[in-house]
Amino acid sequence: MPGGRRRTLARAKIAVLISGRGSNMAALLYASRAADCPYEIVLVASNDPEAQGLHLAAAEGIPTFAYPHKGMERTVHDALMHAEISKAGAEYVALAGYMRLLSPEFVNRWAGRMLNIHPSLLPKYKGLHTHERALEAGDSHAGCSVHIVTPALDDGKVLGHIRVAILPGDTPEALAARVLIAEHQLYPRVLAAFVSRATPQPPAGVPNDAA
Ligand code: GAR
Repeated sequence: MPGGRRRTLARAKIAVLISGRGSNMAALLYASRAADCPYEIVLVASNDPEAQGLHLAAAEGIPTFAYPHKGMERTVHDALMHAEISKAGAEYVALAGYMRLLSPEFVNRWAGRMLNIHPSLLPKYKGLHTHERALEAGDSHAGCSVHIVTPALDDGKVLGHIRVAILPGDTPEALAARVLIAEHQLYPRVLAAFVSRATPQPPAGVPNDAA
């Protein structure tokens, strides 16, 4: 019964965390509109109330939440985000340009259930300025990776990547724009595969909150 399993099972509930433009969030969202997509987005949350992607999410009928992190302790802000994510019923978190380091407490609460997209071929170029670094190194290819989030920055198991050829005369901006096209292909595909393969998880915040 092709497709039958998906129609009878609830879709995995995803909270997407953004800090800005939100184009990867949009790619995840529009992929979720397909009838056979195994996930749905239940919340788009941000550490920046001005994040552009929040407007798009709201216009598309997705609940949004934003709380500025400025002046707050990391653990306190993360706890706020966690509470909203849990309230939304999310089972997984997808970081999509969330440009804020997360506390180990938050990461541990979502261990094995939080993915991130990073604009490099990990383990190369963790952190910022990935395109500049790939160009400066004279690499033939850049790319993007989706990985499981662990407490160490951009360090968790890589679930998929797409290589993007570097062209003569590429600038960081030109390369970033091409890598972004690849990101939009990669993230929905990897997230769909991840939630399909994952064993059913208890609701967010139940077992790991004791930690
Ligand atoms: C994307 O290129 C994403 O890979 C990157 O930020 C951009 C967000 O764009 N993320 C990181 O660098 C995380 N270390 P978007 O808001 O349009 O999705």
